[in-house]
Amino acid sequence: MSLYSEKVMDHFRNPRNIGVIENADGIGEVGNAKCGDIMKIYLKIENNMIADAKFETFGCASAIASSSMATELIKGKPVSEAPTLTNQAVVEALDGLPAHKVHCSVLAEEAIKQALKNYYEKNGIEYNHDLLSDSENCTDCGNT
Ligand code: FES
Repeated sequence: MSLYSEKVMDHFRNPRNIGVIENADGIGEVGNAKCGDIMKIYLKIENNMIADAKFETFGCASAIASSSMATELIKGKPVSEAPTLTNQAVVEALDGLPAHKVHCSVLAEEAIKQALKNYYEKNGIEYNHDLLSDSENCTDCGNT
């Protein structure tokens, strides 16, 4: 049996939403100090909805698949729902990740949170700091 689900392989081989949004309303960039991978998420926000989301990821297959899935999951959603996207939801949508790769999905959650913070702060919008704090969900690999 393969280490990765078919969905992970699909999103790695055919990533959705790869690229840059010019004049993005929110940009979030995070990295993992241990593996050195970097993820950048761009959000376009219109009428309090996430009209578009794109990513650039310099990282492993799981990080690319996680970015692809995470952007798919938030596109078209109200901005208010985006902070509730957890790395676990990304992992589930990918039909699982190996335990030592769960930290890759944490990058996606955190990059989206950073992009939302960037959007709120640029526009002087109050937000729930607890909801946008760093993830504590990556207990499997200790690699957050
Ligand atoms: Fe670093 Fe996957 S190994 S994000």
